[in-house]
Amino acid sequence: MALLMFSAGLLGMTIITTPQGSGLRVLADQIPVNFGAAVGSDLVNNNVDGGKYRQSILSNFNMLEPENDLKPPALWKSLKEIDFTKSDYLINWATANNIKVRGHVLVYASDGGYTIPAWLLAMESSLTKKQSLNLLQFYINRVVGRYVGRIAMWDVVNEAIDDSANGRPYNLRNSFWYRKLGVDFIHYAFKFAYQSDPNCKLYYNDYNIESGGRKANDMFALITYLKSKGTPIHGVGFQYHRAVTDVPTPGDGYYQTIQRVRDAGLKFMITELDVAMPVVQLPSNDPNYGLIPLDPADLTKQAQSYAAHVQMALSFPHCEGIQLWGVGDKHSWIPGFSGGTRGAALLLDKDYNPKAAYTSVRDVFIAKIGPK
Ligand code: G3I
Repeated sequence: MALLMFSAGLLGMTIITTPQGSGLRVLADQIPVNFGAAVGSDLVNNNVDGGKYRQSILSNFNMLEPENDLKPPALWKSLKEIDFTKSDYLINWATANNIKVRGHVLVYASDGGYTIPAWLLAMESSLTKKQSLNLLQFYINRVVGRYVGRIAMWDVVNEAIDDSANGRPYNLRNSFWYRKLGVDFIHYAFKFAYQSDPNCKLYYNDYNIESGGRKANDMFALITYLKSKGTPIHGVGFQYHRAVTDVPTPGDGYYQTIQRVRDAGLKFMITELDVAMPVVQLPSNDPNYGLIPLDPADLTKQAQSYAAHVQMALSFPHCEGIQLWGVGDKHSWIPGFSGGTRGAALLLDKDYNPKAAYTSVRDVFIAKIGPK
């Protein structure tokens, strides 16, 4: 698909124009900022939606993160078998298109759903602490080692902290790795990742920590502990799964929490930004399932929310990137997760056309670039 390139005289910068309008990537590159999206290997490989999925990535993002293809259940098929077929495809495609790759996730610290291989969970009672530690090291060394120099950052540990107080240290979730190794499964995970790629930036990633509160306090206490042990942790990933009513304002809890990360000597990233809204409820097999806003006015609120989040992130020097949890509304996780009650959470609509939120993010980028 031919891309039209023209110079925007007023701002003296080159904008790549695609069928979806002027791409955001060229703007992100000029700021510069890592601007990414969660991507599915199969969706790229199958060139879905008449090529619009691939084209939207190429036009709008300079980074991508496999949504699920680098998770343990996707890779770790049995004790010694790791299947890199899908992750290799996506990472090779990204590299070939000069798109940076962010890894997600070496340890998804939960037992439920698509987080830990079922066969490993089933072995729990037969594994000693030492055997579990050796397995963790084997897996992380293999996965990180395979992509040395091609994955810029890793979510080493994801969602280790419970949403409610549970009496465990740092209110950690009761996960397989916690039961086998205690709190220090987190330290070991970062240590093994660093062993395999000392140049990769290593993150702890979580949600419901963004504006402060108990879970955030647990995380900062955990970070203090990890740093006291010399754990090679470089950053905090704030997922930012939000609603259209969420509008960060300077000095509020969102800004304060990001400042706390800087005060802890770490970088931060917005890792999974989406801003959901109530949608028209349809049968799950309806092509518009989760895609039609219940109140069209929410699209304007969504644009304001996205602009405020992006402005906030770009206002801090230790921002290592902004990443959306999906390329466009059509393949977002939210409709399925919400039983079809919420969705339309990203910048491109069901047909990959820019929404008001896309334009508001573009305008924040242009303002950040400033006049040449
Ligand atoms: O690949 C299997 C397939 O073989 C099987 O037939 C099918 C039937 O159950 O499941 C498929 O796995 C699904 C997987 O996505 C890959 O498509 C899981 O069921 C499904 O639960 C999983 O959902 C993902 C979820 O994480 C759980 O891992 C979502 O797509 C993904 O958007 C979501 O992303 C998480 C981040 O990793 C962490 N932060 C929160 C975020 C949203 O929950």
